[in-house]
Amino acid sequence: MSQIQINSFQDYQEAYQKSIENPSLFWGEIAEHFEWNKKWDNVLEYDWQKPETKWFVGGKLNITENCLDRHLATKGDQTAIIWEPNDPKEATQHVSYKELHSRVCAFANVLKNNNVKKGDRVCIYMPMVLELSIAVLACARIGAIHSVVFAGFSATALAARINDATCTVLLTADGGFRGKKTTPLKDIADEALKECPSIKRTIVYQRTHQKISWNTKIDTWWHEELKKVDDDCPAEIMDSEDMLFILYTSGSTGKPKGMVHTCGGYMVYATYSFQNVFQYKNNDIYWCTADIGWITGHSYIVYGPLCSGATTVMFEGVPSYPDFGRFWEICEKLKVTQFYTAPTAIRALAKHPSEFVTKYDLSNLKVLGTVGEPINEEAWHWYDDNVGKNNCPIVDTWWQTETGGMMISSLAGITKDKPTFATLPLPGIQPILLDDNGNELTETKAEGILAIKYPWPSLARTIYGNHERYKNVYFSAYPNHYFPGDGALRDAQGNYRITGRVDDVVIVSGHNLGTAPIENAINEHESIVESAVVGFPHDIKGNALYAYVITYNNVEENEDLTNEIRTLVAKTIGAIAKPDKIQFVKGLPKTRSGKIMRRILRKIASNDISNLGDVSTLLNPEIVKSIIDEKL
Ligand code: PRX
Repeated sequence: MSQIQINSFQDYQEAYQKSIENPSLFWGEIAEHFEWNKKWDNVLEYDWQKPETKWFVGGKLNITENCLDRHLATKGDQTAIIWEPNDPKEATQHVSYKELHSRVCAFANVLKNNNVKKGDRVCIYMPMVLELSIAVLACARIGAIHSVVFAGFSATALAARINDATCTVLLTADGGFRGKKTTPLKDIADEALKECPSIKRTIVYQRTHQKISWNTKIDTWWHEELKKVDDDCPAEIMDSEDMLFILYTSGSTGKPKGMVHTCGGYMVYATYSFQNVFQYKNNDIYWCTADIGWITGHSYIVYGPLCSGATTVMFEGVPSYPDFGRFWEICEKLKVTQFYTAPTAIRALAKHPSEFVTKYDLSNLKVLGTVGEPINEEAWHWYDDNVGKNNCPIVDTWWQTETGGMMISSLAGITKDKPTFATLPLPGIQPILLDDNGNELTETKAEGILAIKYPWPSLARTIYGNHERYKNVYFSAYPNHYFPGDGALRDAQGNYRITGRVDDVVIVSGHNLGTAPIENAINEHESIVESAVVGFPHDIKGNALYAYVITYNNVEENEDLTNEIRTLVAKTIGAIAKPDKIQFVKGLPKTRSGKIMRRILRKIASNDISNLGDVSTLLNPEIVKSIIDEKL
């Protein structure tokens, strides 16, 4: 595997050049380092008018043979996953490649016993237990399509995702531990399943041993199912372009988008980017703190590291439990060499005394990483000084659920990092900046809308069941370019800094939240006429949500109503989407065509009212002053 690693800045420049001049040659050579049942006929076929993108066309493979089987001869006894429990008193578990292979095959047989076949969709709603990784890989083993739903989502959100993909089996747990809290996952799942006729079987992993209700028609225990199977399960041979998984992400409008990733290209890019960004070497202990409910966990806890034969850490808990030193206690204990987390976690930890960090021995750390949102200068330096001791390169990795893998990032120790900049594109990635009219900004130093002008292997191929929406969201704004929805600036050396979303998605604590679904949830309340939700800067979360709400006449606008609105949002979407601030208003600033002027609302929420621009063209200019006067 190390043959796909870039070892010097010159290597990077050569690789980048080659990837631009001859992408098919470049990616074909990288893909040779994987196990294929049949070699591809064509490296790339694409037409972004349609849009359609196919990689390693005609190739056959199973990603789990690359993650597991191929390491058995050389690394069978090496630890594949180190699992660290929520409660530090519980034992850490080390699972070797041999054992992981056997457990994945056994659970794949459980799935088969429960009638899951190639192409079926399996919803996974689980805490960060080892069995979550096993479940993901077991689906891939038999060609079933996994759809992992983050265990913080509500019953309504879970049901919407199950129904969108018509999943036939649900994998869940009785409950999950996170810090001091226990989440009643089975109860939430039961609530969701009232609305999910497609689910024929729920397989329940026992984690918390809490009391749960049981539907004998569809529920079965994970451990009981395992007693019925052996661990011999040949891998299903998949086409390179067969679906591997669906993962939902919020859109700026409408229901969540089920991003579809396929087998071959995703495998190649997740692995290539993992090895090069983190510069993973034999015997390193790599830890990504994300949840497998997000793309970061898919690509950089499970698939990228395991395809590389790495040792990857899975953590069940939270950074603040039992105290704010937990991350660093684990780093010391497990001798972590690469550590990858979110800016929001860094900001939260930086609020606490530095002894929480300094009392641990972090001398094994070589590389630090961040993902999910822009990292501010202060947080970057805190991370660099306190965790990295100014000795570890920091990779600030810009990418998305849709891109499948890291797109713009430094390569640790190979290309230079720069505070608050994601820096340079990975080989194969061709970013450009556009002005509002879609013209490319050709000066190196520039600021504009970020777009990608050429396919890369792990691009999501469609939105499940809605290719038209895929086309509209990602390929229509700037024809023949992929439009990620972010703005960026580029310095004179060509380094990119992501400046934030240019659409109505707000990144709260690294979670991607569309404002429209939150407004829809608020509007469900019987006392509410209309609402508008925007983001505003927040010290720890990066952004928080501010809801402007209009009530019906005679409704009492009190704290009870505020609480009801927040609960309703938590119930419909999840606690992460609860607005921090709710302001009752008499009206919302609108254009003459009736469109809410969110730009103005964003400025008011951010206390940036000196430059609201010309409001006189609004339908109701007077409302702006009253909103400002009554601001919280
Ligand atoms: O706005 C960008 C921000 O997160 C968005 C993607 O969110 P999601 O699909 O949930 O994936 C998050 C994990 C890959 C992007 O459109 N974002 C992600 N990474 C960065 C970032 N913004 C700035 N810097 C980053 N490193």
